[in-house]
Amino acid sequence: MVLVRLLVLSLFHMSLGGSQPTQSSQQASSPPHPAGQQSPLGTSNLSFPWSRLRLPRYIIPLHYHLLLHPNLTTLSFTGSVQIQIDVQNNTNWVVLHSKGLQISKAAIVDQNFAHLSDQVLPVLHNPSHEQIGIFSPRVLSSGQKYFLYLEFGAELSEGFYGFYKSTYRTSTGETRTLASTHFEPTSARMAFPCFDEPSFKANFSIRIRRSPEYISLSNMPVVETFEVNAGVLEDQFDASVKMSTYLVAFVICDFKYVTATTSSGVQVSIYASPEKWPQTHYALEVAVKMLDFYEEYFNIHYPLPKQGTLCLVFLLLLCQIPLFPPFTFSPLTCVFPLSDLIAIPDFESGAMENWGLTTYRETSLLFDPLTSSISDKLWVTMVIGHELAHQWFGNLVTMEWWNDIWLNEGFARYMEYISVEATYPDLKVEEYLLQTCFSAVGHDSLNSSRPISSPAENPTQIKQMFDTVSYDKGACVLHMLRHFLTDDVFQRGIVRYLRKYSYRNAHNQDLWDSLANTCSEEDFMSGKHCYSSSQASKNAYLFAGEHMDLTAMMNTWILQKGIPLVTVTRKGPHLLLRQDRFLRTVLPSDRLWSTLQQGFLWHIPLTYKTDASSTIHRHLMTTPTDSIHIGEEVSWVKVNTDMTGYYVVHYEDGGWDEMTKLLRENHTALSYKDRTHLIHNAFQLVTAGHLSLDKGLDLIGYLQLETHTVPLLEGIGYLETFYRMTEKRNEFDVISNLGMYILRFFRAVIDRQTWSDRGSVSERRLRSEVLSLACHLKDPPCLERARESFKDWLQSNGTLNLPTDVAVTVFSVGAQDDHGWVSLLHTYNMSLSEAQKSKILFALTCSRDTNKLHRLLELGLEGKVIRSQDLSSVILMVARNPRGYRLAWNFVKKNWDTLVQKFQLGSFCIRNILIGTTGQFSSPEELTEVQHFFESIKEQASQLRAAQVALDNVQKNVRWFQRNLETLRNWLNKQLQ
Ligand code: BES
Ligand code: ZN
Repeated sequence: MVLVRLLVLSLFHMSLGGSQPTQSSQQASSPPHPAGQQSPLGTSNLSFPWSRLRLPRYIIPLHYHLLLHPNLTTLSFTGSVQIQIDVQNNTNWVVLHSKGLQISKAAIVDQNFAHLSDQVLPVLHNPSHEQIGIFSPRVLSSGQKYFLYLEFGAELSEGFYGFYKSTYRTSTGETRTLASTHFEPTSARMAFPCFDEPSFKANFSIRIRRSPEYISLSNMPVVETFEVNAGVLEDQFDASVKMSTYLVAFVICDFKYVTATTSSGVQVSIYASPEKWPQTHYALEVAVKMLDFYEEYFNIHYPLPKQGTLCLVFLLLLCQIPLFPPFTFSPLTCVFPLSDLIAIPDFESGAMENWGLTTYRETSLLFDPLTSSISDKLWVTMVIGHELAHQWFGNLVTMEWWNDIWLNEGFARYMEYISVEATYPDLKVEEYLLQTCFSAVGHDSLNSSRPISSPAENPTQIKQMFDTVSYDKGACVLHMLRHFLTDDVFQRGIVRYLRKYSYRNAHNQDLWDSLANTCSEEDFMSGKHCYSSSQASKNAYLFAGEHMDLTAMMNTWILQKGIPLVTVTRKGPHLLLRQDRFLRTVLPSDRLWSTLQQGFLWHIPLTYKTDASSTIHRHLMTTPTDSIHIGEEVSWVKVNTDMTGYYVVHYEDGGWDEMTKLLRENHTALSYKDRTHLIHNAFQLVTAGHLSLDKGLDLIGYLQLETHTVPLLEGIGYLETFYRMTEKRNEFDVISNLGMYILRFFRAVIDRQTWSDRGSVSERRLRSEVLSLACHLKDPPCLERARESFKDWLQSNGTLNLPTDVAVTVFSVGAQDDHGWVSLLHTYNMSLSEAQKSKILFALTCSRDTNKLHRLLELGLEGKVIRSQDLSSVILMVARNPRGYRLAWNFVKKNWDTLVQKFQLGSFCIRNILIGTTGQFSSPEELTEVQHFFESIKEQASQLRAAQVALDNVQKNVRWFQRNLETLRNWLNKQLQ
């Protein structure tokens, strides 16, 4: 087999010969006609043979041999690919993906390397489906294997997808170039023709040509490097395990790295541009710990195979067959499993889990002890935890199709919490999980939400699947499931799932089956404490021994959109329960209400606690109404303990007054998670019109007694949101009173803060938030202290290292005058720390001078001083500013086409820009304005879920103000009397 591979490779290797692609991407265009070759078969009577978006299933790619030669001076690349295919139906056509590639040659040979035609094969293009079809005049026979060979080329992409160029500047002002890839979900086809669907898993043997001043990296270790000709080296990477095309990656750069080995022998390296190398050490420590953790948790070795065995194969080969260049393997090239992590200077999203070569935005990987704050540290740790979790969840076992991307992303998001909690307990990551669930609730309580599993066929639809629903709702539903099943059963179930579907694809049902069947029949028969498939459903997992069907239960969370509202009422010794769909934009009195409720029902694993005992009670609610016996002597009951369930709770008939009383009199009777959950719940109900705003505000009246960061930040967060919304309206009395109220109410908390990096993670986080808000509200002591620090910083010419957690606040205050703003922009331009730069950029967007805000937007659009990757954040940060939100919106409207071209419709960035800028609006006129804009881009808007989300969101804001402004005004007047 290896021999065959080598022969075929050499056959094709000879013919690559640097021929330049000439083909244009027209439908039914002919391939080029290189001099001295047979004329191509005519294409005039051929039409594209395939009309669907998904490829035919009867040609299966088995092994790709890919050669790429990027030119970092001309910013283009050429390449060739030989794909071994398994043909399962007689056919004359091979249809696969290709986007923007010029195909210069196509050939098909059979197993004996005989060409199927002595003519150059015609290549037809269907650009709207990003497909090409290669016509073979001789039928490819069912049951046979063939090799498809293609030569191609293109410019390196200008954006952030496919094989794209990135640059960075050295401290001496020199600009250096690198080339990197980002393929997920559908951009591998921009770098090489391929069967670009997640279930077409194949092996990849990659070769990359480069100049000696660069290195190349790919998924697998280099096994051999040789000189092709003067000044051109070729790196040959080991053959990969079976994997999907979206996980292929390569980078050609001049980066430096640090390296270490995990306890099981995986060599981990962190790469960054040479001058950022000192910021790589923390990531190395994290990555090593994480891999050790995951190997143990999943009970599966890091899934790239050990290469030791291959060394043996090479040795055998050396004895048996004569090798000719370029196949000169050295017996010393034994390699070990690698995990490379690399910080790419231009990166659209946060990070990407390419197998063995995870790529990151610089802020997601680099940690600078002098300028990175505690939140920066937590972010880096969680991102690494996320991408390394994907090496199992996603890479080893992959969802069958993009409709179930939550199986990748929901799991990876949830594993961030499990892994960081285990490896860095001091970071107290569990304090953030509620936020993940809250952001899911925020999205899922709008009618524009979608089921976790939703249809997605074309690339724009597929890209949009990477949203809050897949990530945050996915993670939150898994959290509920883990609590329902218990940690142990959950862990054993996912290990079973990962083992069973290794190197394959899976559906939701496969996960439920694995979770419901947590040990083998032999284990069960031998009396081990686990459940056989027949017993599993009876486990009922601590939920009162009911006969439950895990699939039926999980389908209500995965296939149905939205989140339930459980309304509870006390009636004697009983707690009456009712479930409805929770919607924040529609009131029960609205006409639409009953229509929007129809057909919704969840299987809710309910939990509750009472003052009668410390036990957590459980009940599975599967009907619209239900009742539980709790006894007469109970004085309070808190439902959805620690928010381990994904549902909102409403306490009817004075139930909220009971909660308010409890918090005031004895708040520590509830856990900090329960307190936070109550605050969240109450304000969700306010927005939805189920609870009056003053009841919500009264509930958080206890916060002066609160010492825990999480509930404090939850309460402060709501007040800040109301403040920031009113700031953008002309309600001057409310703005001023609310500001005054917040400062007065939280005086003690503000005064407790030091301007340092001391204390626990929670304390540091609270300090950042509280001081930033206090200065925003123009608290005189806060402003004074920040100005003092900023003066010191200016005097040191920006060399003074401010405490990292308060640096943003100091910079934001300093940015308010011309000199400060200009000095900050100068430091931004020169700084080698992305952590520092992002703090400065935030501060710059806090200016009250609209000319300066405008300049920032233009700099972001230009992409030089402010990189294009940061443009969407600049827009969002300007939109937060009351002087900037109209500016940001007008900028988006004016530059819409450019933005879509830069970031692609359906991307993270476009979604954030749309929802972020419109999210500042709360008047009916603004709603109409947003509607008009979407009508003007109707064709695109109709493809964007974000457009509907944005409209729902503005509508929700409009209603909030209509319903609550007067209440807020009166409540504040009463408080400030
Ligand atoms: N697989 C994604 C990267 C990705 C994002 C691919 C969007 C295609 C479209 C990666 O694992 C991821 O989730 N990245 C996050 C960061 C992570 C910490 C949540 C991102 O890029 O925001
Ligand atoms: Zn991910």
